[in-house]
Amino acid sequence: MNVKEEVLKEFEANRGKLISGSEIAKKLNVSRNAVWKAVKSLQDEGYIINSEVNKGYSLSNENDLLSPQSISSYLNDKTKKLKIEVFKTLESTNTLLKNIAAKGEDEGKVIIAEEQTSGRGRFGRTFYSPANTGIYMSILLKPNFSAQESLYVTTSAAVAVAEAIEKVSGCEAKIKWVNDIYCNDKKVCGILTEASFNIENGMLDYVVLGIGLNVINPKEDFPDDIKNIASSIFNVETYTGGLRIKLVADILNNFWYYYENIKERTFLKKYKKRSLIIGKEINVISSSRSKKAFVLDIDDECRLIVKWEDGSIEAISSGEVSIRKIN
Ligand code: BTN
Repeated sequence: MNVKEEVLKEFEANRGKLISGSEIAKKLNVSRNAVWKAVKSLQDEGYIINSEVNKGYSLSNENDLLSPQSISSYLNDKTKKLKIEVFKTLESTNTLLKNIAAKGEDEGKVIIAEEQTSGRGRFGRTFYSPANTGIYMSILLKPNFSAQESLYVTTSAAVAVAEAIEKVSGCEAKIKWVNDIYCNDKKVCGILTEASFNIENGMLDYVVLGIGLNVINPKEDFPDDIKNIASSIFNVETYTGGLRIKLVADILNNFWYYYENIKERTFLKKYKKRSLIIGKEINVISSSRSKKAFVLDIDDECRLIVKWEDGSIEAISSGEVSIRKIN
C-alpha cells in the first residue's frame, strides 16, 4: 500500500472522527507533509475530508466512494481475505476479470467499477452502468463444479443480493428466475455468470460472477428502452452517503457464506420464497419464439418447472430461455 492508501485506511477505520495529521504521520512513519499531500490527493478524487485548524482531519460519514479500505471495514473474517480492486471506470468488470482469470489469478479476486462504459448483460444485452450510482462488481470463483452446477452460483448470488438490499434499504426484494432482482415490480439488479470449461473433464476452470445493482436513480433517468422496467433501490432525496459501501460488503458476506456451503444448497428455500414467478403465467422466450407456460416450481437443481399449454411438464435450465411476465 502507498501512503495515500494507508491514509485512506486510517480515515475509513475512524469514519466521522477527527484525527490529527501528526497522529497519522507517526502511525504510518511518514512526514506530516506526506499526510497532507495524501489528503489533498484523496480530496481531488472526490473523498469528502473535512479539516479543522490545529485539530486534524475527518472523513465525512457522507462519503460514498467505493474503495477496498471502505468495504473492508464491513467485511467478516472470511471475506476480509478477498482481493478487492476498485476502478473509477472500466468497459466491463466481467471482461477485465475474465482476462485476469485466464492468466491464472486465484479464487477470491473482486473487481469493482464506479462506472462501466460497456457493461454486459445476458443474451448479448448491454447493462446500463452510469457513474457513482450503482454497484458493478465481478467475483472470481474456482468451484469444483460441472456446467449444470454453475446455476447454483447465480441463484445463491441472487439470494445474497436480495438479502443485502432488504437489510440496507428495507425494500422487499423478489427474484425473477434466474438472475434478476426486482423491487416494487421493477428490475434493480441483474447477474451475469460467465464460465470457462475444461473440455477434458467437463468441469469448470473458473466462474466470473458479475453483479450489477442500481442503487440510486441516475441523474438523467434510465434510457428510454429500459425506463419502464428498470429502477433503483434509493431516490437521490432519500439516499444517505455510504450505503453503497455497506451493500457491497453485505453482498460479499452473504454470498461467501452460501458459496462455502453451496453443495448443501442452503439458499434454495430462500430463493423459492422470493420467487416472483412461481404460481404465475409467463412467456418463455427461446430462439426468439415465445410460448405460454405456467410456473409450477423450482427444483433442487434450480431449474424452472413449467407446465405448457398442452399440459406437458418440463424442467428448464438457465441459458436456454428468457422469461417475461405476461402482466
Ligand atoms: C443482466 O441483467 O442480464 C445481467 C447484468 C449483469 C451486469 C453486471 S455489472 C458487473 C458485471 N460486468 C458486466 O459487464 N456485467 C456484469
